[in-house]
Amino acid sequence: MSTNKPQPLAVITGGASGIGLGAVKRFLKEGYEVLSLDANKEAGDKSINDLKSDTYKLNFTHCDITSHSQIESIFNALLEEKRPAKVLINCAGISPALNPLHEYSVDEWLRTIDINLHGTFYACREFLKLATAMNIEEGAIVNVASIMGTRASAAQASYGASKHAVVGLTKSIAQDYATMNIRANAIGPGVIDTPMNTELMKDENVMQYLLQRVPMKRVASADEVANLIYFLASSEASYITGSYYPIDGGYLAS
Ligand SMILES: NC(=O)c1ccc[n+]([C@@H]2O[C@H](COP(=O)([O-])OP(=O)(O)OC[C@H]3O[C@@H](n4cnc5c(N)ncnc54)[C@H](O)[C@@H]3O)[C@@H](O)[C@H]2O)c1
Repeated sequence: MSTNKPQPLAVITGGASGIGLGAVKRFLKEGYEVLSLDANKEAGDKSINDLKSDTYKLNFTHCDITSHSQIESIFNALLEEKRPAKVLINCAGISPALNPLHEYSVDEWLRTIDINLHGTFYACREFLKLATAMNIEEGAIVNVASIMGTRASAAQASYGASKHAVVGLTKSIAQDYATMNIRANAIGPGVIDTPMNTELMKDENVMQYLLQRVPMKRVASADEVANLIYFLASSEASYITGSYYPIDGGYLAS
């Protein structure tokens, strides 16, 4: 029986690779239309090609999450089409080179905060503007922070600062939009097998050091992280907002 109801829309930043791509696949499988946003055009075009199907509705827009005007015009276009987004997943992010603070370049600091924090803010802001303008009945944001969203690791000051701030931003959004039934949660992945970690995972010594600290003694796949993202965005998590969920094989508990 056809209900003519449009598929719900999920906007996923960083959707061309790693955890974001895992989330894209999961939301498509669950019957969502997905708008994937990413600075990597080649990988975004490849994802469109790889995931082409009669049932999947995937669009890719090449953009830089640090450009507020680009993000604003993407969401303004949705408003013009009267197309509300039900879900926003923020995965776009970078992990800069490791350096103690006195050796940090100011440019690298600013770039990390700009992508990981300001980019997340811009996408949340525009999603919430669209949601309020269209008076949506329910919505969900899942922001991908990190285990570095609640603890610190040596030589990762800008990354840790950006991810702590993403957790704080998420908690604030949860307060402001709770009565509108728009939920916001953050997740804290540990070590995940994605292109971000390709080089790191080639180094046996580093991996041995890292895995010593992971009770499950393995890294996770992007699909495992996408499972948590999907759960938090779904109505199964209807009373969960303002929370932070590590997904780290037991790392933070040890
Ligand atoms: N991989 C891990 O171990 C791990 C652990 C904790 C947290 N995270 C977080 O998960 C998120 C996804 O990381 P991943 O591991 O999938 O890495 P990834 O490199 O595979 O994917 C990140 C995506 O973000 C995109 N991106 C980067 N800068 C952008 C910009 N300015 N505008 C638009 N898109 C941009 C990249 O093009 C890429 O497609 C990041 O926020 C990262 O900090 C990853």
